Amino acid sequence: MRKLPQGLKLGVATAAYQIEGAWNFADKTPNIWDTLCHNNPESISDGTNADDACKSFEFYKRDIDMLKFVGVDFYRFSISWPRLLPNGFANKISEIGYEYYNNFINELLANNIEPVITMYHWDLPQNLQDLGGWANPLIADWFGDYARVLYKLFGDRVKMWVTINEPKQIGLMGYGMTRMAPALNATGIGEYLTAKNIVMAHARSWHIYNEEFRDTQKGVCGITIATDFREGVTDSPEDLEAGLDAIEFEVGLYSHPIFSSKGGFPERVIKRVGARSAEQGYPNSRLPEFTPEEIEYVKGTSDFYGFNHYSSKFYTRSAYKPGTYAIPSYDDDIGADFTYLDYEKGAVPHVTVIPHGIRKALTWVKDNCNNPPIFITENGFGTFGGLKDATRISYYRRYLDSILDAIEQDGCNVVSYTAWSLIDNFEWSSGLSIKFGLFEVDFDDENRKRTARASALWYKKLISTRMLDS
Ligand code: NOJ
Repeated sequence: MRKLPQGLKLGVATAAYQIEGAWNFADKTPNIWDTLCHNNPESISDGTNADDACKSFEFYKRDIDMLKFVGVDFYRFSISWPRLLPNGFANKISEIGYEYYNNFINELLANNIEPVITMYHWDLPQNLQDLGGWANPLIADWFGDYARVLYKLFGDRVKMWVTINEPKQIGLMGYGMTRMAPALNATGIGEYLTAKNIVMAHARSWHIYNEEFRDTQKGVCGITIATDFREGVTDSPEDLEAGLDAIEFEVGLYSHPIFSSKGGFPERVIKRVGARSAEQGYPNSRLPEFTPEEIEYVKGTSDFYGFNHYSSKFYTRSAYKPGTYAIPSYDDDIGADFTYLDYEKGAVPHVTVIPHGIRKALTWVKDNCNNPPIFITENGFGTFGGLKDATRISYYRRYLDSILDAIEQDGCNVVSYTAWSLIDNFEWSSGLSIKFGLFEVDFDDENRKRTARASALWYKKLISTRMLDS
């Protein structure tokens, strides 16, 4: 038994597209996932979409009942940008979208549950995508305007804002690959182009909060970065280097401009894909540069480090081997040949259970990001279903144990912990086939019956006793 640190807040999370449904209700316009799922159903492993999902738009009070049952301190959920602003722009606010989120926030507060709002969890209005989406630098203005609307409408009651969720998944997987919408597959270019625009959009929304709202609303605003851990698989100099490169390319690309004292993209990334790599014989920059003014504008623009973590990967520089996986954006052209070896295999193919990886990732953040307050905004385990989810409970236990090590032994400043997810939902390119919920959702039932899994009861007990059992 281990006691949870005093003050550590516990919650659960979801995201709008994954749960709401009502994809074209009233004046809501399509987002990039509506488009991908409708036009290219083959890109979703089971061919499903989230047109209806968990029908949380209709049944949101039931979600609140479950939150109450579990006893969470807070609920992290996201706003659907095109449900609130059907044009994507701030010139028209949807009455229906406003009422939905307004009622939802009020209902949470009436039940003593703190709302934590993610402004962008991957469902870009399609008409902004038609204008280039995250590849267009103007998105910093569009996102800033959207953020201002949110602060104005809800900031009197919402005190925790997550600007953008997981830039890597947006940019690398959506623009550099086809795993996520808009599935552009501009390998080796899309991820870098979007990285700068995402960081600039985040910074813009933070400055707007800081300058126009913070004094009166007194909340906090920050970004969430996918911080799965990356390290060399052995201590050989080659593997160590491969691991260092990997964490800078996958995490530092987004955290360094915001959290480091120096600002801008990490040196390792600039050397391989930036303009200065010309010195090493690569004449074309694929990494946009930050001007000195932009470096200053972006630095320090997050009140906390939003930390999502699921697993870890261990890299080698040696040639591709069976059972290893090369990240496509590192093409031979830049001399990168990362592969990772599957470590302890978990119950499902894409989640390897490596509890000590979360401790390493937390200390990496502490050491490389100026020891920020860390909000663990997601951690969780996917299965193929079943109510007796012992593997999920074991995952949560072991990862929380490792988080407590990071807090107690390494001095990491962890403020909150969020389990992903409250309910089964639309797991992006895996569709409805992978289940992350503490509660099962019956997607064949018209009313989307929800049933508590063993893990829901376990988490409820953790919250009420504040003791981690082993
Ligand atoms: C991170 C994403 O933010 C979330 O939307 C997704 O469902 C989980 N990872 C699980 O893959």
